Amino acid sequence: MAFDAAFLDELRNRTPLASLIGRRNKLVRSGRNWKTCCPFHGEKTPSFYVYDDHFHCFGCGAHGDAISFVMQSDGRSFPEAVEQLAAEAGLEVPKQDPRSEARAREVKSLGDVLSLVQASYRRRLFLPEGREGLAYLRGRGLSDATIERFGLGWSGDGRHLVEELRAHDVTPEMLVQAGILRVDDRGQPKGELFFNRVTFPIRDRRGKLISFGARTLGDGQPKYLNGPETALFSKRRTLYNLDLAREAVHKGAELVVVEGYMDVIALDQAGFGGAVAPLGTALGEEQLDLLWRMTPSPILCLDGDAAGARAALRVCEVALSLLSPERTLRFCRLDPKDDPDSLIRTRGVAAMKEALSGATSLATELFGLMTGGMVDPGPDQRAALREKLVALSKLIPDRALASEYRSTFLDMFFARFRRGGGSKKPFQKKGAPLPLSTQAPGEMRHIEQGSVERLNILTAMLLRYPDILPEVEQAYSSLALPVDLDRIRSALLDWSCQDEDLTEENCHRWIEAHGLTDIVAAVTESPMPREVGLGKDRDEVLKIDVVESWWHFYGLVNFRNFEREVANDIQATIMQVYSGGGGGDSSFPESLLARMRVLEALRRGEDVEEEG
Ligand code: UTP
Ligand code: MN
Repeated sequence: MAFDAAFLDELRNRTPLASLIGRRNKLVRSGRNWKTCCPFHGEKTPSFYVYDDHFHCFGCGAHGDAISFVMQSDGRSFPEAVEQLAAEAGLEVPKQDPRSEARAREVKSLGDVLSLVQASYRRRLFLPEGREGLAYLRGRGLSDATIERFGLGWSGDGRHLVEELRAHDVTPEMLVQAGILRVDDRGQPKGELFFNRVTFPIRDRRGKLISFGARTLGDGQPKYLNGPETALFSKRRTLYNLDLAREAVHKGAELVVVEGYMDVIALDQAGFGGAVAPLGTALGEEQLDLLWRMTPSPILCLDGDAAGARAALRVCEVALSLLSPERTLRFCRLDPKDDPDSLIRTRGVAAMKEALSGATSLATELFGLMTGGMVDPGPDQRAALREKLVALSKLIPDRALASEYRSTFLDMFFARFRRGGGSKKPFQKKGAPLPLSTQAPGEMRHIEQGSVERLNILTAMLLRYPDILPEVEQAYSSLALPVDLDRIRSALLDWSCQDEDLTEENCHRWIEAHGLTDIVAAVTESPMPREVGLGKDRDEVLKIDVVESWWHFYGLVNFRNFEREVANDIQATIMQVYSGGGGGDSSFPESLLARMRVLEALRRGEDVEEEG
């Protein structure tokens, strides 16, 4: 009974070992891996380690992969274990037919064919015919050790490989299956795919040769050619250099995704061993999975040009739907004219190190991509942007994480496009601290949940005096709210973005139109303290008093954050004035003064309570 080797590879790839074993045994973290008490011999302290593609027990020596784990723990035969795992992974087991043995042999031998081709390419690089290729690689700064390490070669002129390999019993058909020979439209072997190019062997994550890429020396098109999809090679499931990078990452290197072969190689030569690249396609779901098996937060280092930005956006959108607290991305954007290879060559290893250490979070990158170039968006643009940001956060399946992203995005939105206070200039200046937006979304903000009653009051005040919304919307949107209040908030914020006239009447019309009247009634019916002015006639109430009252209750539910936000804004204002950005306006804005007064009052109140 033989299974197709490519199918078994795919089955192993699709079966994360930690979750398979973790279903029956409680796993605990051990560095990048997991451990547990060995299910195959009695023990009290764990010596059974689970790596991403195999397990090993240092106590009894049990060892294997997903298939042998099922065989050993469930007493299954090999085919039974394969059937079971395939069903769990949603894979169909290829039908066994009389030819499958032969096909299995063939698949195995494709690797041999590729190895023979690789030996030929490498030899040619150091023959007279490869002189130009070798000079090209050296001219790009690669040492002979690097050329050796990456197995770089020379394709030859494309006319001799078939004859050369015939001596090793390799048929043209086999070369077609290995992706080395092209076929005409009747399926007949045609010429060699690669000629007059330097060659880059592509290996799978276990180090097995599966295909080649190749670059022309001049400006000819296409610049790079990659082998076609074959039984061994699937582009969307492969990352160039994954085998060597995996080793380096296990030893502590940063995992970095770059765009091209030469970037990977230049990084490796410069001491960054954890670099991988997709093969001329956008980074997809399966490749992200491969990355996350090695580290929770790989760095994507994309070219700084417009194409790089488009690629980043595409990856972000794919990544969001797969995100969890342990699966995120960081982004490192280079200057538009640079890629890692050229950066290292022109500005050195230190510049590359600095670029990597400045990698930003997924949320920051995404926000930057959405707002790139926006200076002073009007109400429509603001509303559209907010909607888009909220929609993006909804792509995240984990609900807690999705709401973290939502509030992080909105924090960034308000920090960048703060409204009200008479100035449409972004409040933050370069160099000033960004109060909330730089926070990694993964880490929960420590909001001290106030009583629901106070949150009700905060909401009720906004429903009654919605014209204060622009002044408090940033803080308001950062509050952790119960479901109903959260729904009201979404409606209020949407409305305030679209309506220039923030009156109570307009607000109620909006609430009604959005079917929230009942929820709002429940909120506004709860008893309100008199000092808020909610019971008085509107004309008797000064806006600044309402604002201060709002901050007062906000400070009560959220004192630590309130204190920090006020402190940050004071500092930012000072920085702005100091750096001459205030345009001669050297005092604190009234809105900040109001908050400073409230903060002082709350502090005094606290002291009195503590003393009493
Ligand atoms: P780039 O065009 O960004 O080139 O291709 P590069 O990596 O900087 O190459 P050098 O420095 O000029 O040698 C990035 C990657 O896109 C794929 C290849 O995988 C390449 O490494 N690519 C590019 C192709 O598949 N075909 C092409 O024609 C060009
Ligand atoms: Mn380049």
